[in-house]
Amino acid sequence: MNEPPRLPEGGFAAWSRDRLAMARRGADECGDVWQLEQGVYVAATAEPCEEVLRRARDYPKAPSPLFPPLKRSSGAPTPAERAYAHAARMRGLRAQAVAARIGEIAPGAARFADQLPTGQDVEILPPVRHALAETGVRYLFSEDAPTLLPFAQRLFLAREVLVRPSRWVWPRWIPTPARRFRTRQQVAFTDALRPIVRRRRSSGRLGDDVLGQILQPSPRYGLLPEEAILDTLPGITVATFETPSRAAGWILLHLARYPQAADRVADEAALLPADPAATTSAHLDSLRYTRALVHEVLRLHPPSWLLTRRAARRTQLADYTIDAGSTVLVCPYTAHRDAREHPDPDQFQPERWLDHAGSPSKPGVFLSFGTGPHGCEGAALAMAMLTLLTAQTARRYHLSEPPGPEPSHQVTTFEGLTTAGLRLRATPRGSE
Ligand code: HEM
Repeated sequence: MNEPPRLPEGGFAAWSRDRLAMARRGADECGDVWQLEQGVYVAATAEPCEEVLRRARDYPKAPSPLFPPLKRSSGAPTPAERAYAHAARMRGLRAQAVAARIGEIAPGAARFADQLPTGQDVEILPPVRHALAETGVRYLFSEDAPTLLPFAQRLFLAREVLVRPSRWVWPRWIPTPARRFRTRQQVAFTDALRPIVRRRRSSGRLGDDVLGQILQPSPRYGLLPEEAILDTLPGITVATFETPSRAAGWILLHLARYPQAADRVADEAALLPADPAATTSAHLDSLRYTRALVHEVLRLHPPSWLLTRRAARRTQLADYTIDAGSTVLVCPYTAHRDAREHPDPDQFQPERWLDHAGSPSKPGVFLSFGTGPHGCEGAALAMAMLTLLTAQTARRYHLSEPPGPEPSHQVTTFEGLTTAGLRLRATPRGSE
């Protein structure tokens, strides 16, 4: 048996202190796959990361939904219903569907930029999250979005409370206050959504949005039961703005730190139509440098920097044997900093993506959206929202970090790689 190497010192205590530094040390000193402790392995470079994510039967994703199905007399959705709900959602989220609705996505980005306070240091993540929530919820529910937005924001809060680091890991069945709060918010969201689902079904006007796609009867499964629809939507609703706002924090920080790159984005953005609702996919496609900048920030700071899988059986990964039941951590963060795939990997160089027309040719080289059967459902939507938000912000403002010795943010890694508490100052272009 050929076990992956283990770091000579450190182990779990060092990992808990600084997970990013430890992940880098593991990749530098041990290579493609290394062992954090007995039965816990880290896939550190592109090939093993891609292999683990692609081989979903050997390395299944643990079922830990953000919002588990609510207990109901009719029971949880069946696997077939879940599969259908997934396929139906994807009809509304794939790149072509997103491209057809850019005019609905763009106004949120422009509104965010319009409303950004100027001349003062602002904690930027809350307004970013609000803008992305408005856009994401509208993308899912169109004219029903205003009814659902406040509930969506409370779902996000419930999740924040739930993932806050705590000294105790309670067994899943214990109804801790945080879990009870989550269930209350989930019930409130589904109670608000139910009449919308019923109204759309009874009127026959299902809608062209993602909810409309889910309500369409399928030739194979017929109509999806109401409870299966209600269970599928809280998670995806929060997903439309939670990770994108983490990504947006890193992007805005880079606009502040790299003014020349920001100027280049502003030049591209000057060609966007004055009325954001008139923005089309052709305009979005023309933002080539902006898109490359978003890719580059996602490469350096993938919000989902560590993905968890479990080996379902004894299996071979790279040249190593992994025992059944082991945890395998997939690390896009270190995979993206491998000099063999990305020359000068620690340098911020948006230009490196211009040759690729926005996506790398080799599998596993860009893993910010995962890959394989559990790859991100919302990648096209996220890229459209983030590219437009970046363009509209750089078009109007120079961003800067607060002067002085205080850091502008704290890097947290617990539930995604985040610029916690990020403060930035916006100065209108041309006013300096
Ligand atoms: C910058 C923004 C985003 C990033 C970096 C991101 C990243 C990811 C990653 C890495 C995964 C794979 C997780 C794994 O393999 O364990 C994933 C899954 C997922 N993402 Fe995203 N995501 C983003 C935006 C979105 C948006 C806007 C949506 C909403 C439509 C979304 C919905 C989902 C869903 C539903 C899954 C689960 C797929 C499955 O398990 O089958 N994501 N995302």
